[in-house]
Amino acid sequence: MSRGRSSWGRPDPAAGELRRVLDERWASVPAVPASTFLGRWTRLLVVSPHRDRVPTGLEALCADASRAGVEVVVSDDRPGHASSGSPSGRTLVIAPWTSEEPFEQHGADVEVAHHLSRDGAAEHAELPWSRLLVLEASPEVACAPHPDGSAPPPLIPGCTVLVTRRDASGESLDRPHLEPRPQPRGATFDAMFDDGEDPWDSGSWYERRKRALTLAMLQRPRYARVLDLGCSTGVLTRELAGRADVVTGVDASARALAVAGRDTPPGVVWVHGEAPAVLDGLDHLDDVALLDHPDLLDLAVVSEVGYFLTPFEWWLTLGALVRRLAPGGELVLVHWRHATADIPLDGPSVHAAARTVLAPLVRSRHEDPDFLVDTFGVAP
Ligand SMILES: C[S@@+](CC[C@H](N)C(=O)[O-])C[C@H]1O[C@@H](n2cnc3c(N)ncnc32)[C@H](O)[C@@H]1O
Repeated sequence: MSRGRSSWGRPDPAAGELRRVLDERWASVPAVPASTFLGRWTRLLVVSPHRDRVPTGLEALCADASRAGVEVVVSDDRPGHASSGSPSGRTLVIAPWTSEEPFEQHGADVEVAHHLSRDGAAEHAELPWSRLLVLEASPEVACAPHPDGSAPPPLIPGCTVLVTRRDASGESLDRPHLEPRPQPRGATFDAMFDDGEDPWDSGSWYERRKRALTLAMLQRPRYARVLDLGCSTGVLTRELAGRADVVTGVDASARALAVAGRDTPPGVVWVHGEAPAVLDGLDHLDDVALLDHPDLLDLAVVSEVGYFLTPFEWWLTLGALVRRLAPGGELVLVHWRHATADIPLDGPSVHAAARTVLAPLVRSRHEDPDFLVDTFGVAP
């Protein structure tokens, strides 16, 4: 019997929190930095049922607007009335997305957009996929602790989801401002090998202790198929190989993999590629092992990689990894927890997003002074 990964091993797609992140259609939704999108507005008028509170799902965009000097006004008025009397400059009115809410055009200086909240998405079984646009928060906003821990999380952590007026083939409010996704970052990581073959200092006490604790957090003594995403020179990959039949080490850096490849234990395969895209291209490896369900993973490890991804790329990566987990499969995340610079996320924001998005799968957590380990698991 043929058992495709789309039908095997996935958690129940109807399971509330998980349903959205597991949807493969997000991969074709365009994303831009919020700062790029905001560049054409001088004023953001947010329509909220509570006059003094930014609605859930718009906090990050409003924070980036304030950082960019865009005036943010919260109003409980409808867009048509709220936009009247706007000062000079261009105003964007953002109202919640509901199927009854028509798009409105208020002249050259005022336009209306609709944002998709977690609640709004839940109401819409079928999202208007071809008209979605993801705005990604700046690192400063995406990494900021949420001021009110009790507020419901946005649909995609660190992102605002807008419903644009027309689909990708037409002119619309937002899409003329799209920029291509960032170029593959392999070259950045390759350059780290200019100064030596161990840029991450894999023999340091921090790294050794982190690997030992990561391995100790694994639920089972052995696994059939394991993925080590962002494996670099393969130090952790080789340790995982001692507990697995097959381990696929994936990395964006060809130079890291060239070093890794000099010591390849039986059952280890190295793959050059960048998450999230690479995760859809691993099926060609199925002939490396005669496993029952070779294209599914019993364990996926993501150690010190998530913060190099943008918030939306992290969401896509989480979805792709969980889609690939076999029944009973585990996902383990490990990240340094101190401040980062010049990269999209930090360890706490990476883990907070995962624990929100994959809430029904949360298994265990280790809070080290220097790093976080979170484990997730799907039902056997
Ligand atoms: C800090 S090292 C982590 C190495 C190892 N996982 C560990 O914990 O010791 C980060 C690695 O992730 C890789 N990387 C960064 N972004 C990636 C992406 N989007 N897809 C795959 N690998 C990525 C880099 O090339 C680098 O080798």
